[in-house]
Amino acid sequence: IRSVVVGCGSYLPENVVTNEDLTKIVDTSDEWIRQRTGIEQRHVAANEEYTSDLGYKAALDALDHAGLEAKDVDLIICATATPDNTFPATAVSIQNKLGITHGAAFDLQAVCSGFVFAMSTADLYLQGGKAKRALVIGAETFSRILDFNDRTTCVLFGDGAGAVVLEAQEGSGEVSDRGILTSHLRSDGRHKDKLYVDGGPSTTQTAGYLRMQGKEVFKHAVGMITDVITDAFEATGIAAEDLDWFVPHQANKRIIDSSAKKLGIAADKVVTTVNLHGNTSAASIPLALNVAVKDGRIQKGDTVMLEAMGGGFTWGSVLLRM
Ligand code: ACO
Repeated sequence: IRSVVVGCGSYLPENVVTNEDLTKIVDTSDEWIRQRTGIEQRHVAANEEYTSDLGYKAALDALDHAGLEAKDVDLIICATATPDNTFPATAVSIQNKLGITHGAAFDLQAVCSGFVFAMSTADLYLQGGKAKRALVIGAETFSRILDFNDRTTCVLFGDGAGAVVLEAQEGSGEVSDRGILTSHLRSDGRHKDKLYVDGGPSTTQTAGYLRMQGKEVFKHAVGMITDVITDAFEATGIAAEDLDWFVPHQANKRIIDSSAKKLGIAADKVVTTVNLHGNTSAASIPLALNVAVKDGRIQKGDTVMLEAMGGGFTWGSVLLRM
């Protein structure tokens, strides 16, 4: 059994905030943000728009792209670090909005690595025969946990959601089959103070704000990313030059470019959306994947590497054939 991506979708809130707009709130400049991060703008959810609304719309878009209906799905995993509420799970709210009551829905929390963790998890459910079709969603409203007095973090993040439909299909067992070929997940809690939210139900009973030691994150990111991608290459015999597309977590253009360079992945195979979306955490990979699928760059049969690194730290890769 292989878990094959049969549909992609996304949703971005209407409101676009440019770097210039941010200069009215904090002491920053378009030039500083572009140079250090590659970010030009980000989308920000409306007051009454929640993570489940974004995830629901991305899910509908992915189902439509797949030519399927909500009733055809029996597993929903929503990767998010910004759930609507502490509980119930945002995935269950999305399930409810989709109007289905069968199957299971749950959230997965691995911050920016959430989407690769969720893809890997859904893959095991499909391979194990526990589900036939999964909606794997990354949805975030990071604008809600940003401290707009902290210019070192508030300029980096945006809101949005992306989704894929994964379907269990019979394969020949060959590496040439479509579907997820391998996934590699890691975590190391010794780094928890480098990127965290200073609140939560058990500690402060408030939602808290994102705190980050940017330089420390940067220092570890490239090494961790290249490690899990090397694991994927070793597990499959696929090499950097065999990849058609590299769809990395969109945190920072400098991290993306350094990782691609270190791995020997050609610059024209890198899908970059951080300029338009900012860092949307768990939503960034499915958002970028959706852009490159819908604009025709990523085609059926293409070999695609997904990777992410984020708070925890957590990091991981998913290698798939579309
Ligand atoms: N506008 C203007 N100046 C700023 C801003 C801002 N928004 N933010 C910080 N500065 C200033 C600092 O105060 C500092 O000034 P000083 O030298 O007078 O003290 C100066 O700019 C340089 O600050 P640094 O922190 O050294 O800047 P650096 O080059 O490290 O860039 C950045 C900061 C962009 C956060 C970088 O460290 C980075 O990209 N880190 C990776 C973090 C990341 O991407 N995290 C995303 C979440 S994790 C993930 O998704 C992987």
